[in-house]
Amino acid sequence: MIESKELLICLGSSCFARGNKEIVQLIRKFLEEHELSRKVDFRGKHCFGHCEKGPSLRINGKHYDHINAENIHEILTREFLR
Ligand code: FES
Repeated sequence: MIESKELLICLGSSCFARGNKEIVQLIRKFLEEHELSRKVDFRGKHCFGHCEKGPSLRINGKHYDHINAENIHEILTREFLR
């Protein structure tokens, strides 16, 4: 199990246009289902400068691009459950 981690999602306009709203919902659901809401500092940030590769997020400084409904679960499982 993890220590406290920081999970930042870009809320910039380009990432918004590419569907970050759905990703936010999926992340919240994942954190709740795994009782991680209090252990993960999940926040929105503005533009990481990877706009053409969004939606983008960072987990403890590690950057992920091209986030979608298919790959988010695998990324969160790797980062928070293993
Ligand atoms: S708008 Fe998300 S990285 Fe720029």
